[in-house]
Amino acid sequence: MAAEPETLERELGELLDVERFEPPADFVRRARVTDDSLHRAADKDPPGWWREQALAVLDWVKEPQQALDDSNAPFYTWFADGTLNASYNCLDRHVEAGRGDRVALHWRGEEGEERDLTYADLLADTQRFANALKARGIGRGDVVGIFLPMIPEVVVAMLACARIGAVHNVVFGGFSPESVKERMLFSDAKALITADGARRKGKLAAIKPAVDEVMGEVKTLDTIFVVRHADNDAPMTEGRDVFYDEVLQAADAECPPEELPAEHPLFILYSSGSTAKPKGILHTTGGYMTGVTWTHREVFDLRPDEDVFWCSADVGWVTGHSYIVYGPLSNGCTSVMYEGAPDYPDKDVWWELCERYGVTIFYTAPTAIRACIKWGAQYPERHDLSKLRLLGTVGEPINPKAWLWYHKVIGGGRCPIVDTWWQTETGGIMITTLPGAQATKPGVAGTPLPGIAAAVVDDQGEELPHGTQGLLSLTRPWPAMLRGLYRDEDRYVQTYWAKFGPRKYLVGDASKQDDEGYVSVIGRVDDVINVSGHRLSTAEVESAIVSHPKVAEAACIGQADEDTGQAIAAFVTLEGDLEGDDAMVAELRDHVASRIGKLARPKRIIWSDELPKTRSGKIMRRLLKDIAEGRELGDVTTLKDPDVMAQLEEKIKIAQAEEG
Ligand code: WTA
Repeated sequence: MAAEPETLERELGELLDVERFEPPADFVRRARVTDDSLHRAADKDPPGWWREQALAVLDWVKEPQQALDDSNAPFYTWFADGTLNASYNCLDRHVEAGRGDRVALHWRGEEGEERDLTYADLLADTQRFANALKARGIGRGDVVGIFLPMIPEVVVAMLACARIGAVHNVVFGGFSPESVKERMLFSDAKALITADGARRKGKLAAIKPAVDEVMGEVKTLDTIFVVRHADNDAPMTEGRDVFYDEVLQAADAECPPEELPAEHPLFILYSSGSTAKPKGILHTTGGYMTGVTWTHREVFDLRPDEDVFWCSADVGWVTGHSYIVYGPLSNGCTSVMYEGAPDYPDKDVWWELCERYGVTIFYTAPTAIRACIKWGAQYPERHDLSKLRLLGTVGEPINPKAWLWYHKVIGGGRCPIVDTWWQTETGGIMITTLPGAQATKPGVAGTPLPGIAAAVVDDQGEELPHGTQGLLSLTRPWPAMLRGLYRDEDRYVQTYWAKFGPRKYLVGDASKQDDEGYVSVIGRVDDVINVSGHRLSTAEVESAIVSHPKVAEAACIGQADEDTGQAIAAFVTLEGDLEGDDAMVAELRDHVASRIGKLARPKRIIWSDELPKTRSGKIMRRLLKDIAEGRELGDVTTLKDPDVMAQLEEKIKIAQAEEG
């Protein structure tokens, strides 16, 4: 029954005062964990406890005797004397246990196409594709780029790399070919797996020709595999390019998994940092697989034989790596994978899929929930969501209003919500609540998981009293932690371990803790902007804008935004006497889209004759933020030319009046 919007508003309003939601009795009755026994057990001997989990959740070729080695901190290793294979753990072991017929992925295409892939299907394709990779000279330690839409082939490609010890480097499909090229260059990729085209809301984007334009510069690249997906022409270069389906056909059916050391690299994933150059975050096999398998099982209270799990992220982000591919497949459960947008063909497509496949656990981002709120409760109300039993969020802080709407409208008031805090660097979930054991508090992520330790500290690394805002730090190494930045050891140490030393990992988020030790994460403290849960670097966007010939200078900031959490505002100074106008705004936004991707386009561009700078010439972004958010200006005494601020304030007022 559809509730009247006013009734819903009233009910949500009443809930706004509720600060904590205890685990519902019905949920607790069957929950895996219902008390703090895991937290306590782990605290006694964290590395030893993690080793027990590693043995319990994974199949090893050689079981590790070692757990943590911190003798060379911050270059930590885990389970270093063990050997295993990630694709074996995701596929073979389930097939060998007689579960080959279980659906691994219910795949739904943009235009409503459906494909169910069983564990046996995935294993068959993965072995063939692994052989195809080998046939092109790819082996242990070689980097393979993957630039694909949300199609099952992306999972096969990742697992085929893992099978032979090649290191995948997935680039999110929303990035530009220019960004793909950069990531292939940085990592000396030997091959790239891409598609003839991508579909989005009824439109087709050609991928292959765009990739071809830039890929010539990547001298290490010997092979481009092309998945025929969108019925689109794909120009093929003789000797270099091959069609995925053809090589799959031609390949041998059997490819035994390589026995790999636990510390063998599994993947690199580029993520934005404080400078314009993205960071190649490196994860290895044993620790990462332990972390994602364990967290996927315990945080989502998984029953692999019954649950249908859906993580709505894109596989090109870490959330997709950990909770579409490695976690769910390692646990042998059934998942949903959806190619398209949440509002195509209509705004109820997600809920239609939940009903159709009987989704029991749904994991998404706050920004998506806010979009759904805007569209209205009538869309979810068209569908039977009664199978849902647990909900999750990730990627950015969730405002209590969105939390309550999710709880009420999607969860029918009966599903616990796990607000999961983590990062590309952490590999898997770090701070949240175990849903059968811990109360949830809207807008508050939760406590560190068993085996994980965190603290809120001041600038010197001293722990702050509860209730005081400070910097989040992780104070104990954990198995799924990044092992470094690809080919950039100095930057690894500088970014995460220089501020507080090699034992206190600097997260880069502001946060505070309450008296029960629950952590609220407030947002980034560095020059990273979180747009719809996507990490972008102000420096990267600035350098894209400045690369336009008509631009003299640019500074970007993140502005609070109702829909996307944060949005990018760019202050731009044009060359010479050029005047900014609407056409120029469009030109710059297009330019950024072609350099980085559409997701990085600034929402607002503010033309400024000059930018506020210190005497040494550093742009003072803090002041730009103050102006853009209409705050009282902070300290301006270090400014070289204080008049600049007055002029900018005037500009902002005019811009806002025009928008309003
Ligand atoms: C933010 C995504 C508040 C945070 C898995 C972090 C969150 C950054 C939450 C990492 C959450 C992630 N509550 N903030 N539940 N989850 N963040 O690397 O600022 O894309 O540092 O990893 O997202 O983003 P990344």
